[in-house]
Amino acid sequence: MTIRILTLSLTFLFSICGYSQAQIYLDNSQPIETRVKDALSRMTLEEKVKLTTAQSKFSSHGVPRLGIPEIWMSDGPHGVRMEILWDSWNHAKWTNDSCTAFPALTCLAATWDPSVSYLYGNAIGEEARYRRKDVLLGPGVNIYRTPLNGRNFEYMGEDPYLASKMVVPYIQGVQRNGVAACVKHFALNNQEKWRNHINVEVSDRALNEIYLPAFKAAVQEGKVWTIMGAYNQVRGEYACHNDLLLNKILKKDWGFDGTVISDWGGTHNTREAALNGLDIEMGTYTNGFTSNVSAAYDNYYLASPYLKMLKAGEIPLSNIDDKASRILRLIFRTAMAQNKPFGSLANDEHHSVARKVGEEGIVLLKNSAGLLPLNAAKYKKIVIVGENATRKLTEGGGSSELKVKKEVSPLEGISNKFGKAKITYTMGYASGDVAYDKVLPPKYNTDSLRTVAIKLAQEADLVIYVGGLNKNSQQDSEGDDRKSYELPFDQNQLISGLQQVNKNIVMVMLSGNAYEMPWLNKATTLIQAWYLGSESGNAIANILSGDVNPSGKLPFSFPVKLTDNSAHAFGEISYPGDSTNQYYKDDILVGYRWYDTKKIASQYPFGFGLSYSKFLYGKAKIDKTSIKDNDVLTVTVPVKNTSNIAGKEVIQLYIHDKKSSELRPEKELKAFQKVELLPGEEKIISFKIDKSSLKFYSDNKKQWVAEAGKFSALIGSSSRDIKSSLDFILE
Ligand code: BGC
Repeated sequence: MTIRILTLSLTFLFSICGYSQAQIYLDNSQPIETRVKDALSRMTLEEKVKLTTAQSKFSSHGVPRLGIPEIWMSDGPHGVRMEILWDSWNHAKWTNDSCTAFPALTCLAATWDPSVSYLYGNAIGEEARYRRKDVLLGPGVNIYRTPLNGRNFEYMGEDPYLASKMVVPYIQGVQRNGVAACVKHFALNNQEKWRNHINVEVSDRALNEIYLPAFKAAVQEGKVWTIMGAYNQVRGEYACHNDLLLNKILKKDWGFDGTVISDWGGTHNTREAALNGLDIEMGTYTNGFTSNVSAAYDNYYLASPYLKMLKAGEIPLSNIDDKASRILRLIFRTAMAQNKPFGSLANDEHHSVARKVGEEGIVLLKNSAGLLPLNAAKYKKIVIVGENATRKLTEGGGSSELKVKKEVSPLEGISNKFGKAKITYTMGYASGDVAYDKVLPPKYNTDSLRTVAIKLAQEADLVIYVGGLNKNSQQDSEGDDRKSYELPFDQNQLISGLQQVNKNIVMVMLSGNAYEMPWLNKATTLIQAWYLGSESGNAIANILSGDVNPSGKLPFSFPVKLTDNSAHAFGEISYPGDSTNQYYKDDILVGYRWYDTKKIASQYPFGFGLSYSKFLYGKAKIDKTSIKDNDVLTVTVPVKNTSNIAGKEVIQLYIHDKKSSELRPEKELKAFQKVELLPGEEKIISFKIDKSSLKFYSDNKKQWVAEAGKFSALIGSSSRDIKSSLDFILE
């Protein structure tokens, strides 16, 4: 009886509170679309509009009345950023937010291994989940167009196919944790200089062939839940509210059912933001534009001004219903997802993922004197030279900055591996402290540092040089581009000074970008070691010692000089633009597509990387010499490890179109495989090619076209080291 009275009173209570119908949106067993519709039907216009804006620097509103939680976001993309204050950019100084720093995305791309990308995505997703984040702001897939771009380290290189193959498993790994990946920056944010306003003009062909494929793969194959708009303008409209990019391409053509989030402060106009595809507005200082004022969030373009326009009938209600549905879908997939794992933070497992990514991504560029793997017993006095041997490279760089639980420096890693007793360290060069938006002078005198280093190098029997770029402003850092292709901080002078006094120099270069190498002829030993995060020193030491055999391949070319690069070949209007507009005159010829088509030798080509093993490519075979429509062609090639060390090789397949009615690049990557081969082992590598690999986007016909005619499948160990070429015909 008492129970019955209680039930009746609860029913009465629910009905007067408006809860008479079953709350389907809370029922996890119901399809998400049913829940979205149900939740939407219960919401007031004001509540729907609230969903579309930030409520703090890194969170957006939920619907508290209905128990629908807010969304919490965090950068991305190499680790989960430290907590930021609610209403300012300052660090919150929590004591429980130290993360694992994973290697930068250039290093991930250099692994050429999608399964490693999945491990990376899953591990960073677990950290985001543990930290109760719903959206991880990454990965980035803007194409590497110029080595001056300050944010190339956050992206996956110059080739759309490689970036597409690597971004998909990253997303899948993150999202299996109930955390959305946020692929950024859509689109054409290929430089930092003038990023907040520059208007990019580019052909449909370059857009479709070069700049969009990785985003498309993220949406259609990776099923990514959120996308971040870019700061720049594209064809006269800001990318964060761009009808072509967001409405037509992303949402209509690609069928994206997720949420478009603005870059922080990338929104500029209410009507455009409402109508041109933006769903959540983050980080706009709307109230003076430059400084933050408390409760500015209500002034955001998609907050009160948007509500006003909806109420006045200037924007149809279907517009807010679409945005609110997308945001609810995101909340159900993340914040309200049940049965999601609990996550974990900075544990041994994540550190070993970070180390593995580093070990698989480090690229051996030169080993002509056979110094590597290092036979440490041979050397009594080793001097390590270079600021990057000790500098924290997880700090700085802009929004990808991290507070880490552990960061093993190259000096520590190398000393642990080879024995501290015989190692001396000297800085050799110095840069200033990290500061956003400005370059601080070094605290040391460069001439003195160089003199000391050269003296020590003269007395040592081995020099390990650890240099490159760093995360200072105008280096590998957000907000601005590099000012020159040269190595900074007088490193070239230092390196040639060292070369004059010692023949045994191992160069370990850390950067997310290519740089000029005027000292290369005299160098025998060079590794490109990116930014490796928490396990930096251990991964480097394992490669130097030979405990791990290098297997990374370059995800972008190193030009000899800057003017060889396509973005710089057409003068300032092509890069960086005239401060208002920029025309991508290099069009589809980006990266190796440019160097190969124009027959310009690069210092190191795309896809290049050595190993301590030797691989012998046998005779490649093709199963058909002509194909049509839905035929699939199989190309096979035997690859043998002829050395006595187990190693991994990345076998690459490029397509060359022999004759076309429109310009085609000399070759384009269409397949690759990383395989492990034991000493003496041979494997037959097999690739499938179909008509889709032969297509180009025709600007004239406004569609993808495969023209009948002759093609070659090129099998290589890099874009410039082609081992066999097999001809076939598309009928
Ligand atoms: C960056 C984004 C980042 C956001 C939030 C922006 O300045 O461009 O990549 O996710 O800030 O920190």
